Amino acid sequence: MKRILVIHGPNLNLLGKREPDIYGKVTLQQINNELKKIAKKRKVRLTIKQSNYEGEIVDFIGKIKNKYDALLINPAAYTHTSVAIRDAIAATNVLTVEVHLSNIYSREEFRQKSLISPVAKGTIMGFGPKSYSLGLEALIDLL
Ligand code: DQA
Repeated sequence: MKRILVIHGPNLNLLGKREPDIYGKVTLQQINNELKKIAKKRKVRLTIKQSNYEGEIVDFIGKIKNKYDALLINPAAYTHTSVAIRDAIAATNVLTVEVHLSNIYSREEFRQKSLISPVAKGTIMGFGPKSYSLGLEALIDLL
C-alpha cells in the first residue's frame, strides 16, 4: 500500500473561522475527513500533520525517506517565504503536489510567488477544499 504524507502549514488549523470570505467555512477536520475517504477508496495510507512552525515542517519532510511515497502540502504563508521548506523537498526528491485553497495569483502581490512550485510535480489552487481532493487524486494517479 502506498503511503502519502499530508502537511498543512501555518494557520490552517483555524480554517472555518479564519477569513471565511477567502478560505470558506469548511474546517480542517472536514477537509481531513474528505481526504481520508478518498484514501480509503483508493487504497492508500495517509498520515496528516499540521504545523505552525517552519522548522517542524522541515523536519517532517526530512524524515520522509523510506516512510512515505509522496507528499501533499499546503505550505500556507511559507509558500511565499520558505527557502528551507523548498530545499527540504528538493533534498528528499519526494513526489510532491502543492495545493492552495485560494488562487494566489488573484491576490496580493506578495502572494503571487511560490518558492515551492518549482520543486513540486504540480500545483492545484483556487478551488477551496476541493483543491486538496483534486491534489490527492492526482498524486495517487501518479503513484
Ligand atoms: C494559502 C494561501 C497563502 O497565501 C496563505 O498564506 C495561506 C493559505 C491557501 O491555501 O490559499 O495561509 O496557502
